Formats: sequence, C-alpha cells, structure tokens
Amino acid sequence: MNVDPKSFRAALGSFATGVTIVTSIKADGSLLGITASSFNSVSLDPPLVLFSLARGAFSLKDFQEAGCFAINVLSEHQRDLSNLFAKARADKWSGVAYETWETGAPILPGSLANLDCRTRSTHDGGDHVIFVGEVVRMEAEAHGRPLLFFRGAYTQIGDIL
Ligand SMILES: Cc1cc2nc3c(=O)[nH]c(=O)nc-3n(C[C@H](O)[C@H](O)[C@H](O)COP(=O)(O)O)c2cc1C
Repeated sequence: MNVDPKSFRAALGSFATGVTIVTSIKADGSLLGITASSFNSVSLDPPLVLFSLARGAFSLKDFQEAGCFAINVLSEHQRDLSNLFAKARADKWSGVAYETWETGAPILPGSLANLDCRTRSTHDGGDHVIFVGEVVRMEAEAHGRPLLFFRGAYTQIGDIL
C-alpha cells in the first residue's frame, strides 16, 4: 500500500502526546537538548523508557556517543522551553536553569517528571534512531498539568472524564 506522507503525518498527529525535552552531556561538558514527543515507557522491571531521534538531527551523533540521557516531562508552563529546544543547532542553554543527578544529563526544574537514564541500546527506526534507556533516578510531581501536543499544535488537558 502506498502511504502518502501528508496523510500519514495527519494520522499520527491525531495521537495526542505529552512533550519532553531530552537532554544529555558530551565528553567535553557541552550540553545537548531536543524537544521530543516520541517518549514512551517500555518496561517496569528493569525500568526502561525510549525516545526516537531523527537521523537528520544535528545532535544525533552526540546523543549516540554520550551514553546517557535525561527525559524532562514538560508542564503546561514550559511551552517557551519546548520551542527553544525545538530549534535546530541553536544555542539552547544560555539562561536555562538545570541541575545534574547521576549521569550528568541536565535535569530541568519545574518539569512534571525527570528521568535520568543510561542508554542501554539503540535501534534502527527508519529515518529515526530509537534510544532505549535504563532509568537510574527519577522524580515526579504529584500535581501540575502537562503540556500536550495534538494535530500539530500545543494544547492543555481538559476536564477529567
Ligand atoms: C512538540 C515537538 C515534538 C518533537 N518531537 C521530536 C521527536 O520525538 N524526535 C525528533 O527527532 N524531533 C522531534 N522534534 C523536533 C526537534 O525538537 C528538532 O528537530 C530539534 O531542532 C532537533 O535539534 P538538533 O537538530 O539541534 O539536534 C519535535 C519538535 C516539537 C516542537
């Protein structure tokens, strides 16, 4: 079957997701960060998560070499950060507050959840590379509302059904 790219994108966009910033650190200490909605849970025991990174992303090689990443799950108050980290190659870190935990990957305060991970494997995902990480430390807020992405636009959570 022929899957036309425009309809495929539209179909995928009807799956509402949260938004994360995936971060890491290079051997020379410089910081990496990209906005990603491809985050997902994989396994409870061991605790594994995944995200996928476009083969065309400038930071792909650096993420592959880093051996670690942190997932920062964004709140509805972090849309500006999401836009900042979605810009290719930009200087994304000036003025951005962060801390580091076990791996050294930047942890962004104010997120709904932070998961510090060691990269366990990478997999071919067509024009993306799938990164699977083992969570070594995490924290999650009991309150707060997520930033959502649906049909190509940011949105907020509505009433609980
Ligand atoms: C809401 C949203 C979700 C995104 N999700 C992904 C994703 O899951 N994987 C990906 O490779 N790029 C994703 N992007 C695009 C990257 O954030 C963007 O290409 C970024 O510039 C890559 O940085 P780099 O080229 O400097 O490495 C997303 C962008 C937005 C706005």
